[in-house]
Amino acid sequence: MPDMTAARRFSVSLRGDRVPRRAQNETMEGAADQYAVVGHPVAHSLSPFIHSLFARQTGQSMSYRLMDVTPEEFTQRVGGFFAAGGRGINITVPHKTRALQLATELTERARQAGAINTLAARRDGTLLGDNTDGVGLVQDLTHNLQVELADRRILLLGAGGAARGVIAPLLAQNPRIIVVANRTAERAQALAASFAALGDIRGTGFGQIGRGEFDLVINATSASLTGELPEVPTGVLGPDTFCYDMAYGKGDTAFVRWALGRGCRRAVPGWGMLVEQAAESFRLWRGVRPLTAPVLAALTGTATDRGPGPPR
Ligand code: ATR
Repeated sequence: MPDMTAARRFSVSLRGDRVPRRAQNETMEGAADQYAVVGHPVAHSLSPFIHSLFARQTGQSMSYRLMDVTPEEFTQRVGGFFAAGGRGINITVPHKTRALQLATELTERARQAGAINTLAARRDGTLLGDNTDGVGLVQDLTHNLQVELADRRILLLGAGGAARGVIAPLLAQNPRIIVVANRTAERAQALAASFAALGDIRGTGFGQIGRGEFDLVINATSASLTGELPEVPTGVLGPDTFCYDMAYGKGDTAFVRWALGRGCRRAVPGWGMLVEQAAESFRLWRGVRPLTAPVLAALTGTATDRGPGPPR
């Protein structure tokens, strides 16, 4: 039996800033707590859907909506949201770095990432900034997909914000080495150097990755978003290399197709990371971590979308 009480209490708008009339009126004591995802554009975001399922599952009374906010209006609109009693936001492209300045305090992982995807209002009126992307990736890899990271060789493709956000949580799993490879080698070298104190990490161009197969190859470039492929030498792949694309979409991404086509037994898009980073935000806001497996199943439709991975 679905929990209809929780379902009725939850209100969510999937159509931009417009909030259902009932939610707009809920400003009195006992009203649903207000949350939002802030981006530009943001209409494509699956966060309202994910958080509505989390809220229903855990019986939380909360409202979560989309806020399409340009860079110019970011500070004013987000400030207004919290001034009106908003409890928390997720931050997505292009505001993840900009949002740092609104946080009163940062978690260590947010400071290391140099960007935040979550703001939480605390009782004393201060705002805590967090970055749950990296822990979401690690949770998907180690828990959902059962990929061992300790003492493994990891190749991280890309040296932009997406790559920066996951390096510290990956190094915390004690891999043997992380090689950061990027089209622009200097960016990879600079990024690796900034994390050198946390573990064995090296930055390089695609052409200088060196010999040998990796245990795990993670695509953190934005190439999949346009159907392109980073020009990585195929020698980095072996049949047991696990390939993970932080991007996701309908069907397999270009990177996942490339890996499977070159004999990798397991290659998956980043649906699990999407759901796990959301679950960590939810936990920060509500103090309860929702079950992610049913939400992941609802998002992807069928487990077969994820390629020949283990049953979820
Ligand atoms: P994000 O926040 O998504 O990481 P970003 O900071 O703009 O966005 O970084 C995009 C990353 O994807 C960079 O590493 C970029 O490589 P460059 O530093 O050489 O620009 C990488 N990238 C984007 N398109 C790519 C492509 N077609 N092939 C290889 N790398 C690509």
